[in-house]
Amino acid sequence: MKCDVLTLFPDVITAYLNESILKRARENNLLDVCILNIRDFTTDVHRTVDDYPYGGGAGMVFKPEPIFSAIEYLEKDGQARKVILLSPQGNPFDQRKAESFAGETRRLTFICGRYEGVDERVKHLVDEEVSIGDYVMTGGELAALVIIDAVTRLIPGAVGDERSVEDESFSSGLLEYPQYTRPREFRNMTVPDVLLSGNHEEIRRWRRKQALRTTLKVRPDMLDRIKLDESDKKLIVEISSEENN
Ligand code: ADE
Repeated sequence: MKCDVLTLFPDVITAYLNESILKRARENNLLDVCILNIRDFTTDVHRTVDDYPYGGGAGMVFKPEPIFSAIEYLEKDGQARKVILLSPQGNPFDQRKAESFAGETRRLTFICGRYEGVDERVKHLVDEEVSIGDYVMTGGELAALVIIDAVTRLIPGAVGDERSVEDESFSSGLLEYPQYTRPREFRNMTVPDVLLSGNHEEIRRWRRKQALRTTLKVRPDMLDRIKLDESDKKLIVEISSEENN
């Protein structure tokens, strides 16, 4: 994955990208991130990036000039880019979008908004506006990191064991089953016997049932979007009768 992040807080981005899996992905050239401080593209002595909104109202608006200059600077390298503006007004980011971004051959250029919003004319630069959820943050930095993190995990070789990516919720369409590790007993709480049985079919069935149970309880809407086979339907009947007792 090749990307650029345009931000007023480059240290926030660097700090997260220099840890753990993302750090390793960068070292292994699976992830290439160019971070630009938008303030470096201002031309006045005060390095101004915001101004009052035309028409009045509370808050400040991100000025268009430094953002245009930053994008034009990047474009000099001749690489194809998909420019993404992070904002609460954008298309929702989900696992499907993460997969589509992971398949992009273009560089993904993230513009992190701030203040009450960016000047509408910035949208001329933008291919897609993306939101990570129905809440308003103080800026797009965390959203850019969320997206870079979720997309990097999908790059072959970025996560140690590929199965952990294939197996997990959202790719399977269900929330995940519970996991346990040693010790077998901790403060009177024990690991379910089935996981110690060595019976792989029983373990698979138990995990599927727990995944269905959690999804039914927390995100029943997800079940409408996947195809349940006969054995899933049997498990759901079992779960319903257990929950009713
Ligand atoms: N900037 C502020 N809130 C945001 C959100 N929910 N998603 C993306 N960018 C944002």
